[in-house]
Amino acid sequence: MRKAVFIKIGGSLITDKKGGTLSIKEGIISDIGADLVDIIEERRIILANGAGSFGHPVVKSYRIDENGMNPEGISKVCSSVDHLNKVVVRSLVEEGIPAVSFPPRSFVYRDMSGNFVSFKEPILNMLRLGVVPVTYGDLIFDERRGSSVISGDDIPFLFSDLIDTAIFLIDMPGIMDEKGEILRKMSEGSLNLVKSCEADVTGGILGKVKKGFMLRKMGIRVVISGFSKKGDIKMALKGELGTELIP
Ligand SMILES: Nc1ncnc2c1ncn2[C@@H]1O[C@H](COP(=O)(O)OP(=O)(O)OP(=O)(O)O)[C@@H](O)[C@H]1O
Ligand SMILES: [Mg+2]
Repeated sequence: MRKAVFIKIGGSLITDKKGGTLSIKEGIISDIGADLVDIIEERRIILANGAGSFGHPVVKSYRIDENGMNPEGISKVCSSVDHLNKVVVRSLVEEGIPAVSFPPRSFVYRDMSGNFVSFKEPILNMLRLGVVPVTYGDLIFDERRGSSVISGDDIPFLFSDLIDTAIFLIDMPGIMDEKGEILRKMSEGSLNLVKSCEADVTGGILGKVKKGFMLRKMGIRVVISGFSKKGDIKMALKGELGTELIP
């Protein structure tokens, strides 16, 4: 099977992450779906949507990041991220994408050492059928902490042997330098340009870039890009949009 493309639809892009309200930008999700219609003609795709305002504030209010043992908190967080993912999948299906939801908590957990242990066969077989799996930022069982957050940015590591490209879509045109200009290419040496100013429960943009460089070292092409209209994902895939991480 030819290697797949992983695309993370950032919570910053499809929810009101900065305002914190529970609104979903369905128009953007539909435009992403319309873009993916062309891409699935040629490539297999694994998607993940970030949790945005449906994840981080609920995690904080139940202090799941400090204590993952609270069953009410676990349930509330899961219910919230499930709702967003359902809307994402429905919008994609309406655009003609054979999208199917795969909640991370049902195929991956963290062991005592903090490593992911996953059961991926159902997803891999669905991928072979031509289905587009849609995973998401979720709460997973954690042997040490009871439960802990898995970011959509962590999902490509679970599929690192299956993907050759990872695209992270965010609400900015890409990674910006201190003058507010986009870095078209970024090496690890310029990591200090990205400040961890507003880190959320999964590490924000700094966490994303660090994970991006880890993927890059595994031989996976990584592009962090904005998305404002149909066609943008295709451009990002060609390296014509966003920030490409370089060795
Ligand atoms: N140098 C920078 N370049 C680009 N974005 C930056 C930079 N510094 C801070 N940011 C912020 O990082 C945000 C993107 O990271 P964030 O983790 O919030 O989004 P996300 O991964 O799409 O959301 P989620 O984690 O919910 O999926 C942008 O909205 C932007 O405000
Ligand atoms: Mg994030």
